[in-house]
Amino acid sequence: MEVKVAILNDNIAGAPSFKAEHGLSVLVEVEGKSFLWDCGQSDITVRNAKAMGFDLRAIYGIGLSHGHYDHTGGLLSVLEASGPKRVFMHPAAFAPRYFKAGEIQRFIGMPYSRGAVEGISLELVLSRGPVEAMPGVRLTGEVPRVTIFEVSEPNLYCMEDDELFPDPFLDDQALVIETPEGAVVLTGCAHSGVVNILKHVLEDHQRIRAVIGGTHLGLGDKRRIQPTMDFLDELDIGKMIFNHCTGIAVISQMMDRFKDRFVPGQTGIVMAV
Ligand SMILES: [Fe+2]
Ligand SMILES: [Fe+2]
Repeated sequence: MEVKVAILNDNIAGAPSFKAEHGLSVLVEVEGKSFLWDCGQSDITVRNAKAMGFDLRAIYGIGLSHGHYDHTGGLLSVLEASGPKRVFMHPAAFAPRYFKAGEIQRFIGMPYSRGAVEGISLELVLSRGPVEAMPGVRLTGEVPRVTIFEVSEPNLYCMEDDELFPDPFLDDQALVIETPEGAVVLTGCAHSGVVNILKHVLEDHQRIRAVIGGTHLGLGDKRRIQPTMDFLDELDIGKMIFNHCTGIAVISQMMDRFKDRFVPGQTGIVMAV
C-alpha cells in the first residue's frame, strides 16, 4: 500500500523556496486521500503547502498531536485555506501550557479557544481514546507509560487555578496508518516517549514500517536518548524521518547509526515511506 508523506512545517528549511520555524506539520497521503498531521505555529504551513503544489482544500481532515503552540498555532490559517474540515484532538489539548526555567516563564499552549476551533471547523472531534480519522488512519489516543526512562519532561507545565504543575501530557498521541506492510507512525513532539508510543502501536501491529515526526530528544530529558536509539535499532523499521524537536545533535547521531534507514526531516520533503 502506498503511503506518502510531505513535510510542510519543520525547524529546518529544505530548499530556498521553503520556510522553517520551530514547528511540525506533515501531510500524509494514503491511497490518494490526504490527511494533515499538526499545523506548525504559523501560516508557514499554508505557504509551504502552496510552494510544494498541495491544495489543502483536498485534505480529509486534521489531527493534532498535542496542545503546544508549535503544533496548533497554524490551525486557523490551515482551516481558512482548506475550508471546513474535521479536526481531531484530545480534550486536554486545550489546557493552558507553560515553559518555565528559573525566572523565565512563557505561555506555550494552543493560542485558540475551543469555541474558535468549533466555529471554523466542520466538526471538532475530541477523544481520549483511539479514534478513526479516515479509513485505515487513526489517532492512538492516550499513550500508556511503560518505560522507566520516559517519565518526565523538564520545564514543561500546565496551569490550573493559577498554579503550575508538571504537564502530564495526557493529550500527547500519534497518528497510525495501517498497512499490510506494518504501521506507519507519525509523532508530534513524542512527549509521552517515542518508545512508549511505538510499544503501544505494536500492541495492535506486527511491525513498524516507518516513523515520522518529532522525538523531543533534543529538548527533553537527555537520559532518553541512548535507550530510545537502542530500541529503534532493535526494531525492523524501514524508514525513520525524525525532525522538529529531535535536534541537530541527535539527528546527526541517528544518521550515523541508522544509515539509509534514516532521513533528516526538513520542509519540502515529499517521500514514499
Ligand atoms: Fe513541538
Ligand atoms: Fe510539544
